[in-house]
Amino acid sequence: MTSTPVLTQSLKLTIATAEAMFELGRRIGGELLPGDFIGLTGDLGAGKSVLARGVCAGCGVDPRQVLSPSFTIVVSHQGRLPIHHADFYRLADADELFATGFGDLDDGTGAILVEWIDRIPEARPPGHMAIHIEGCGEAPRTVRIDRVGQRYAGRFELGDFAET
Ligand SMILES: Nc1ncnc2c1ncn2[C@@H]1O[C@H](COP(=O)(O)OP(=O)(O)OP(=O)(O)O)[C@@H](O)[C@H]1O
Ligand SMILES: [Mg+2]
Repeated sequence: MTSTPVLTQSLKLTIATAEAMFELGRRIGGELLPGDFIGLTGDLGAGKSVLARGVCAGCGVDPRQVLSPSFTIVVSHQGRLPIHHADFYRLADADELFATGFGDLDDGTGAILVEWIDRIPEARPPGHMAIHIEGCGEAPRTVRIDRVGQRYAGRFELGDFAET
């Protein structure tokens, strides 16, 4: 039996400021389609929530409404498409996650954006965008974006992303 290799396109960016991180998120959010899934990873204070606010803003959501969903696990916003913003930091296991109804959000009508996806990686569909942020404090961040699966091929071409 042969297995088809999964197409992965990777990109690494240096993001010097929180404002640039927000703008990167906004670029990504502007391209999101129903059914897309983004998993964010990175240490405490890396900038996942800054990026998430930008993604929601790019989807047409007022970023002031995008608070950390770590206590509620998931918050759904209505922009030009529904965007479900989750934070898995406080979850013990997948059972706890699926008890929140998270599994029902994957109905193809909205996009899903998860901070701390590495806590429950099995919640991620085989095709997804994985964004890892390296760095903390006031230091510039390295952002690695992996687009995994055919669904993302040729999309999110962010190589020209210029920090403003
Ligand atoms: N280049 C940068 N990119 C992103 N954030 C930066 C950058 N430089 C400084 N910061 C600051 O780092 C902090 C990032 O905080 P944020 O809440 O987004 O992190 P987080 O990864 O969500 O952490 P947690 O896992 O604790 O929720 C913000 O205070 C932001 O202003
Ligand atoms: Mg956060």
